[in-house]
Amino acid sequence: MKLRDMPKAELHLHLEGAAPPAFIRGLAAEKGLHLSGIFDDRGAYVFDDFWQFLKVYEAATSVLQTPADYARLVSAVLEDRAADGVVYAETFLSPDFCGGGDEGAWAEYLAAMQEAAGAAEAAGGPTLRGIVTCIRHFGPDQSRRIARCAAETAGNWLVGFGIAGDERTFALRDFAWAFDCAREAGLKLTAHAGEWDGPASVAAALDHLRPARIGHGVRAIEDAALLDRLAEAGTVLEVCPGSNIALGLYPGWRMHPVDRLRRAGVAVTLSTDDPPFFHTTLTQEYARLADAFDWEEAEFAAINRAALAAAFCDADTRTRLAPRFA
Ligand code: ADE
Ligand code: ZN
Repeated sequence: MKLRDMPKAELHLHLEGAAPPAFIRGLAAEKGLHLSGIFDDRGAYVFDDFWQFLKVYEAATSVLQTPADYARLVSAVLEDRAADGVVYAETFLSPDFCGGGDEGAWAEYLAAMQEAAGAAEAAGGPTLRGIVTCIRHFGPDQSRRIARCAAETAGNWLVGFGIAGDERTFALRDFAWAFDCAREAGLKLTAHAGEWDGPASVAAALDHLRPARIGHGVRAIEDAALLDRLAEAGTVLEVCPGSNIALGLYPGWRMHPVDRLRRAGVAVTLSTDDPPFFHTTLTQEYARLADAFDWEEAEFAAINRAALAAAFCDADTRTRLAPRFA
């Protein structure tokens, strides 16, 4: 089977980070907004490092201003995922950008996004579920507001809570209140760690936030005892190799630790993070990994089954989708 046609499950996808640049430019033109310095000559997003990437991301996001804008974004993003063979995806949603943490405004944004996702699925597109993420560099106080937004709207569609953003700001333990609030509301948990910060950040996430999954987590490779801990606990890593390489964390595909993480017995899934920013698709990730590590269709099929097992959707949804990954 061609890699593009393989049914795929993707667990780590930032909604605004999946916005095609042409979509953002079109919306900016409609609104008469001027975006400077975020696109190159060919219209691609432009940035030199992770911290600039976060700035460009937030600048692009500034044109998304209403629930209707976000509904259109969901439709565009799902169209791209369908073309990539994705049949199940979870996407990170940020009440910070959708109403600034106001619970009433957030509920309106969420309803619009959920409706767009439902329409895409009814038309044969991928199944989508949402994970609210607080943004680390906005700080622990704001994370409490975001967790309350998530808790108020938890259900069959909004299934998870997490943290993204600049790993080098604030201590993870200061986000424990937000994670506890989300956990009590029945949300499943994931935390970005071990991307820009070292293995100790993965241990801190496990200690203080107790997530089922870690976003990235690749720098766990630097600590053998931590690898054992992840393997024993069954903590699932949402690994996004193309993102790590595009942002300069590793110099090339063969140097990426994803193969060594799997060999160490850690549960690994594959995602694209912010695909148009990193000029990638899940199909392209598979092709690069097949080249670098001689992975074959059986490896990718096993990784997709691991992703479905680690998905935050309810049991009925998992059971309904399982035959696609058999
Ligand atoms: N927000 C969007 N992409 C991200 C990443 N790779 N790490 C942290 N925060 C992000
Ligand atoms: Zn991410």
